[in-house]
Amino acid sequence: MADRQPNPYRPGFNQPPVVFAGRSDVLDGAAEALEIAAYDGRTPRPLILLGPRGVGKTVTLGEIAELAAERHSWPAVHVEVKVGGRMLVELGSRLRDAAQLLAGTEPREPRRRPRVTGGKVEAHAFGIGGEVQLEAAADARSDDGLDAVLRTTMAAAVDAGAGLVITVDEVHNAAPEELALLCGTFQEHVPQGWPVVLALAALPTLRNNRGRRRLPTYLERAEWHDLDTLPPTEAREALVGPAQQAGRPMTPDAADLLLGHAGGYPYALQVAGHFAWRASHGSRSIGVDHARQAVPRIEADLAHLFRSRWDDASPREQEYLQAMAAVAARGEVPKGGAVAAELGVPVTSVSYLRARLLRKGTIYREAGGALHFITPGMGRWILDQDRQD
Ligand SMILES: Nc1ncnc2c1ncn2[C@@H]1O[C@H](COP(=O)(O)OP(=O)(O)O)[C@@H](O)[C@H]1O
Ligand SMILES: [Mg+2]
Repeated sequence: MADRQPNPYRPGFNQPPVVFAGRSDVLDGAAEALEIAAYDGRTPRPLILLGPRGVGKTVTLGEIAELAAERHSWPAVHVEVKVGGRMLVELGSRLRDAAQLLAGTEPREPRRRPRVTGGKVEAHAFGIGGEVQLEAAADARSDDGLDAVLRTTMAAAVDAGAGLVITVDEVHNAAPEELALLCGTFQEHVPQGWPVVLALAALPTLRNNRGRRRLPTYLERAEWHDLDTLPPTEAREALVGPAQQAGRPMTPDAADLLLGHAGGYPYALQVAGHFAWRASHGSRSIGVDHARQAVPRIEADLAHLFRSRWDDASPREQEYLQAMAAVAARGEVPKGGAVAAELGVPVTSVSYLRARLLRKGTIYREAGGALHFITPGMGRWILDQDRQD
């Protein structure tokens, strides 16, 4: 098709949007951390992004990496933690790649190149003439521990007059021992002021679903950011921005209708834009009729997401989810007690269901105890299913 224009929406996970809306708190925090690391000769606190699936944790980590590249010409190392995976091995291997990349990089400001003196690196690279204790490490080998690889990579970074961003995604999947080791290693090197910014992302279960184990202190002292749905203005920007940029603007009526279905949930906004764009092929703008045509497809797509979570729950767990949805639909706060009351049983007899659903990441619990679905809109979907049965 000669006049086919590529769809500017990015429905799905881990897909950077064409227009990245909002999240200025996180980006400001990251920009400041980068400046501390690049100019003050201090290692800033790590950043942690916490939020349900589809709110944009992964793409926000990508934005942080881009910020580092644009403003400081720093490379980034990215790791996605898998269940039962070997986070530290993977991180080690990515760090080695980064060290090689940095070793081949010409210093940006040759005159300020750090000098290696007696096992220490003078960090003129930081612009303050401070001294960074960074032993000139030998080449890292694949069997080296995280500490050794990190030293080598940071030596290469300082040598290149640069620094490093490390982003770790899906941290809730990390084994507690691995997380403790990662944090311990970074904690230990804080006094050395390495130019490194660590940014992590996880489901909200990271905060409250670790049994009796506490999070490493290093993380407790981190800069925490809770990511939730986008506020109305930013949701609109995420929805209408890509169409606008692609030269097929969306009318305000169409945007209103689509926003009514997607809310401020970033995943749903991309899905909504995607199907509305499709429905409007051949038109110069996306109008309310196109939006109307797109609605069944948008709902089907989101239902798919909810269905997979639902099918993953046992019949008893499904009852619990139903009760949770019913309590929330009445406008009450669905805490454990209210859900048990809805089921007509004592709290203690269903707390194991709540624990299982928390562990699976189907629901999460706010600090005050309120329970939420990880994917917004799922409660409404469950009740709709119920009516159809
Ligand atoms: N700030 C944003 N503006 C526009 N779209 C976004 C934004 N954040 C996320 N998205 C979109 O939402 C979807 C989910 O993002 P993702 O980062 O995979 O979420 P998470 O990692 O929290 O599960 C992707 O399609 C992405 O393009
Ligand atoms: Mg993600």
